[in-house]
Amino acid sequence: MLKKLYGVIGSPITHSMSPHIHNDAFKQMDYNAHYHAFHIEPDELEDAVKGMKALGVSGFNVTIPHKEAIIPLLDEVDEAARRIGAVNTVVNRDGVLIGYNTDGKGYVEALKEVTMLKNKRVLIIGAGGAARAIFYTLAKEGNIQIDLYNRTACKAVELIQEFSLNHLAKGISSKEAVNRMKDYDVVVQTTSVGMFPYTEESPFPLINIKEGAVFSDIIYNPIETRLLRDAKALGAVTQNGVSMFAYQAAFAFEHWTGQLPDTDRMKNIVKVQLGGISC
Ligand code: ATR
Repeated sequence: MLKKLYGVIGSPITHSMSPHIHNDAFKQMDYNAHYHAFHIEPDELEDAVKGMKALGVSGFNVTIPHKEAIIPLLDEVDEAARRIGAVNTVVNRDGVLIGYNTDGKGYVEALKEVTMLKNKRVLIIGAGGAARAIFYTLAKEGNIQIDLYNRTACKAVELIQEFSLNHLAKGISSKEAVNRMKDYDVVVQTTSVGMFPYTEESPFPLINIKEGAVFSDIIYNPIETRLLRDAKALGAVTQNGVSMFAYQAAFAFEHWTGQLPDTDRMKNIVKVQLGGISC
């Protein structure tokens, strides 16, 4: 039987870790398939999507800068991806391209590794694409109170209104976020603040935090952001973006094959790719 082909489209794409983790998972699970990274610029996107279909590529991931732009080019888009406004996974089902978003689900699954979410008070930092996916998915968990802080405050308020989540979420200023830090059980950092090479930056200074609070940052380069370092020094449980990356990949893999791969293995591969050690 012909080897199935999967891939990822994006720009830049050279350093993508996805081929490493998916090819390893295919091998582990004895699945006759290969995953390839395709460098696609925005003006090539439409042709690329047609090409994927014509070649019978079985499925692919979509990354920066195409997650929003690909939506009108697909045959179907599932409800969550449509509401979030971004697709990161496409399944080719008998020539019909269907878009999904596994970023939000991947993030929430990763967060559940370090904390229960029921009745928790959560602060989300940011209101961009990543925050949309995480906010939408977290809100679906129910029984969570969410504050949203964003540098451009109105974007946070608009996001809450767009999702009709005024009953459980509120937009707040940086001053309010700092002053209320002792109330939050979980703090989720979704912006690029603190990402390499600006590793000394943090969304705001931490003075005090709630005892046992969980601080989670979607960034994985560096492996520990300034925010996580500061929170850890104050006693927080911290989590970097490696788990989220692994889970979004695992859920994409599940869409394609119907099977969940070994996420611990995926995390280890990401750590090795980032220059760490495997154990
Ligand atoms: P992504 O898809 O990765 O979430 P995005 O949609 O461009 O990227 O969103 C970037 C997020 O990071 C936004 O919340 C942005 O805040 P603004 O809405 O005010 O632009 C936030 N962000 C980026 N750089 C920032 C900085 N230097 N300080 C604070 N917030 C920043």
